[in-house]
Amino acid sequence: MTKPLTIAVDGPGSAGKGTVARGVARTLRYQYIDTGAMYRAVALMALRNGVSWDDVDGLAELASRLEFRFAFEGDVLRVLVDGNDVTSAIRSDEIGMGASMVSKHAPVRTALLQLQRDLGAAGGVVMDGRDIGTVVLPDAELKVYLDADLEVRARRRHEELLRRGTPQPYDRVRDALAKRDRQDMERATAPLKAAEDAVMLDTTDLTIENATRAILLLARERGA
Ligand code: DC
Repeated sequence: MTKPLTIAVDGPGSAGKGTVARGVARTLRYQYIDTGAMYRAVALMALRNGVSWDDVDGLAELASRLEFRFAFEGDVLRVLVDGNDVTSAIRSDEIGMGASMVSKHAPVRTALLQLQRDLGAAGGVVMDGRDIGTVVLPDAELKVYLDADLEVRARRRHEELLRRGTPQPYDRVRDALAKRDRQDMERATAPLKAAEDAVMLDTTDLTIENATRAILLLARERGA
């Protein structure tokens, strides 16, 4: 018998969380939930509505008012906010930094927390983010903390930007990642850290395919 597990994947930017979580979800026929996209969507909508990434009250109001929808289309997770497709618009590094800035405000996190918990409640999900194993789904049957050296993550991000046709100098990519790591780890509310019962997976010398395989093996061991 298999049972639908709840799988939490946390870690810093460009450690491979999205690709790995998506691959695991596809193989197990689970729902993949990208919580970073929610914070990115808040940052984007704030920018579009003239709300500063530091305006706690304005951001909280915006976050609780927005309706998020996530839909799989082949390999692409489409993100809709109030019916508008923002899938591509939220992927820039500017919005990534904005997401890191808005996500440090407790009221913004509170506005998204219940939605994230509701999405995870029935099991059969792979949720990726920064605080999934520690705060959002503390009872997840499998928690993974994916990490990699900064230089390796920066190289991956640099190549990804190149592929997307939006290249940026390597040094700038690395410095922005390091700044985001610091912001996400040092904030007071739900900082990025591994849950005590998380399996640590370092992808510095591991291909994304092998990391995905390793997590699938762990999931199978736990009944998936
Ligand atoms: O995973 P990502 O790069 O899309 O995340 C963008 C930012 O959103 C990240 O720097 C911090 C924030 N975030 C968060 O605070 N908590 C989460 N569960 C997911 C993302």
